[in-house]
Amino acid sequence: MRSDAHILLIDPAHFDVRYAINPWMQPVHWARERDVYMARARAGFDALYAALVSIGCRVSVMPGAPGLPDMVFPANAGIVLDGRVLVARFRHPERQGEEAAFEALFRRLQAQGVVNSVTMLPVGCYQEGAGDCIWDAHRGLFWAGWGPRSSRMAIDHIEAHFGHTVVPLELVTAQSYHLDVCFCPLAGGDLLYYPPALSAASRARVEALVAPAQRIEATAQDLAHFNVNAVNVGRDIVMSRCTDRLRATLTARGYRVHEVDLAPFMLSGGGAFCMTLRLDRRVDAAQPAACALA
Ligand code: ARG
Repeated sequence: MRSDAHILLIDPAHFDVRYAINPWMQPVHWARERDVYMARARAGFDALYAALVSIGCRVSVMPGAPGLPDMVFPANAGIVLDGRVLVARFRHPERQGEEAAFEALFRRLQAQGVVNSVTMLPVGCYQEGAGDCIWDAHRGLFWAGWGPRSSRMAIDHIEAHFGHTVVPLELVTAQSYHLDVCFCPLAGGDLLYYPPALSAASRARVEALVAPAQRIEATAQDLAHFNVNAVNVGRDIVMSRCTDRLRATLTARGYRVHEVDLAPFMLSGGGAFCMTLRLDRRVDAAQPAACALA
């Protein structure tokens, strides 16, 4: 079935694991088997592409750039809603070259009529795109992570720019350095998440906005498999190889889990969600207005 989802992928030709800016990254291990991993990365990318097409997504693949190995994770490129793009500002110098590269890419998409506007955040205001700012279509709000990568002050900029509620969530562990590693709102209003990654105050915020029956708690094992870093479109969820427990939980709730071998990308700290960026997100008038915050 065709959905409205339009997803950007970045070709992995320039993907590499050369530095370590999160605890999952293993450049030494990678270097020992680089050729094997590069071939596996291409196969994993092709499988991800095929899985997204099979669930009805329109997928656009754009080239990365030499010297920017993490461009393969376009979730970090910016926040996109209603055709408006807020381009990311990266915390680490290793990724800062991506800002201009992604700005140019978004301008190309603007010229093609895919997006309408492209805006830069102020310098020094770190914000790593949809990886740290996830649109919850069911609730009509953004969940935004801050701490390891994105600045707390980015929240106000996002809210002012898009005019929608942004719920700040403080990330307190190195493993969940981006919100999308530990937090995945699903189409039906369910939330797949790993509570220990959030501060106590942020956990309380989530609990105030998401009913107990809608909360699906991931385990440390699910997190390590990058299963929370999943792409959800309707009933379909695309993710890296899934733990048996989580597959059973999601299936029992009526979701269809599609698994892809993304092991080489996990050696860079990424899974399915961060390899994608939704370009079509629109505020759905049929959805309830943003919930009042407790
Ligand atoms: N190596 C990349 C980094 O550390 C991985 C980014 C994964 N992206 C994400 N949204 N979790 O920045």
